[in-house]
Formats: sequence, C-alpha cells, structure tokens
Amino acid sequence: RAEGERSTEWRGPRIWVGRKADSTLPRQLKQSWLSLAEALPLVETLQLVEDEQISVFPSGVPWKKYSGEIDGLDVHIVVPGKDKTLGVDSVGTVPCSLLTYASAVALRPNLLINAGTAGGFQAKGANIGDVYVATEFANHDRRIPIPVFDKYGVGTIEATPTGNLIRDLKFKEGKLSTGNSLDMTLQDEEYIKANDATVKDMEGAAVAYVANMLAIPLISLKAVTDIVDDSKPTVEEFLKNMSMAASALSNAVPLVLKYVSGKTVADL
Ligand code: ADE
Repeated sequence: RAEGERSTEWRGPRIWVGRKADSTLPRQLKQSWLSLAEALPLVETLQLVEDEQISVFPSGVPWKKYSGEIDGLDVHIVVPGKDKTLGVDSVGTVPCSLLTYASAVALRPNLLINAGTAGGFQAKGANIGDVYVATEFANHDRRIPIPVFDKYGVGTIEATPTGNLIRDLKFKEGKLSTGNSLDMTLQDEEYIKANDATVKDMEGAAVAYVANMLAIPLISLKAVTDIVDDSKPTVEEFLKNMSMAASALSNAVPLVLKYVSGKTVADL
C-alpha cells in the first residue's frame, strides 16, 4: 500500500504492545542501524527497496529508509546516512536518536530492532563475531557528579525481556554501555565496569531512550567487532572485522524477524 497509508486490516496476531488487537495501526517493524556500511548487506539479504520519490522524513536530511514485507511483517530499515559536511557515516547518539524518534513518529512501529556493532569485553566472555542481545542499556560518558543527576547521566534502562528469543535463537546476552567515542578513556572504563557491561557501542542507549519514552519494545542486537580489554588496537580490529560483523547481523536479523512474526511481545 502507499507510503504512510494506514492498513485497516489486522492479519492475525503480531508483535504489538499497548494497542488493541483490532487496532488500525500498521504492523510495522523498524530497524535502526549504526551505519550504511553495516546495513547494506541486510538490505540486500531481505531484498528491501529504498524510498526514493516519497520520503517520510523532512527534505534535506541524510536519513535513508528501505522497506519491504518479510514473513508477513512490514519491515523498514532506517539508517542515519552520511554526515552532510564530511561524507562519513553519521555514527553516535545524536543522529541515531533523531532518526529513531522521527521514524517512530512517522511509521508507528510496534517493534524496534537496533542492529549494529560493538566492542566486547573478553573478561565477560565476549568473542569477535558474537551477536549479543542487550539486556540493559546505560551511558558511560555522561558524568554529572551531582546527586540524582549522576544517575540521570548513566540513564540505565532495562531491555524488553526476550529470554525465549535469546534461548531459542542461541544468542549471547549481556548489558550494553553506550558512549560517543570508539576508544575508551580510563573514566569511561570505570563507568562501563560500574554499568556491568559486556558490550560497548555508540548508539544503543540512545535508541533505548527513545523506545522507552514512546513505549515501543526494543530488541538490540550487537555484533562484536573488537575486544576492548586486550592489547590489540581497537581501530584496526574494528575496521578488520566490520564486514564480518555486518554479515553476522544479516544472518541474525532475518532469524529474529521470522521468530517475532505472529508472536506477541509477551511471547518473546
Ligand atoms: N562499535 C564497534 N566497536 C566499538 C567500540 N569498541 N566502542 C564503541 N562502539 C563500537
């Protein structure tokens, strides 16, 4: 159906939350990605089509959306696109939270999937190539040493429970800590440890903030490109393993879509 048009049919049970089963809301899933480079293999795997003529986004934004129907679900992959000035992928919390908010308002998804890469802690069992489902989100670079604001800065958010999905699809699970840097300062490390994180990324907590604010369930899938607590340089490891992580995600996401199709959030 045409972009933005609301479906009036409800084809069997789907993923939905806080909405009646006879809702006229479309059954849309949205996926939020770290970067175009990571998203494109999945766009190809799922044979999604880019919106070129009509966009749900304001004109001039670099955001991109690819859509299609998979396993009876309306699936949209959105990516923040390229930085307007420098032409590199728009990584980090600000582009990602803006994109997630705008997409959620325009598309009214009943599930968000945030798929991207992360650094992993071997002390917590992470290996390169693992795909983690985040069980909790927190920030490690928002230090505000004033009572209560300190907790606000860390901004811990519990993930939507998906124990069945984690078990059935044999994903690893762990807490995710987010910051706007690929590297890790000593202070970051202290906060990441306090957050009890197994994986560290640059977007997850921002997506979780938006999902939590709008009461949309969220599954965050993180493929490990680099081990943070070893002696190898992060940048080299990250660049070397990025395409492997993208293909791990393009295997994982279709499995998740198949799994969630026809289920309610409580089934997950
Ligand atoms: N994405 C992949 N590796 C990362 C790291 N070490 N830190 C933050 N984000 C990442």
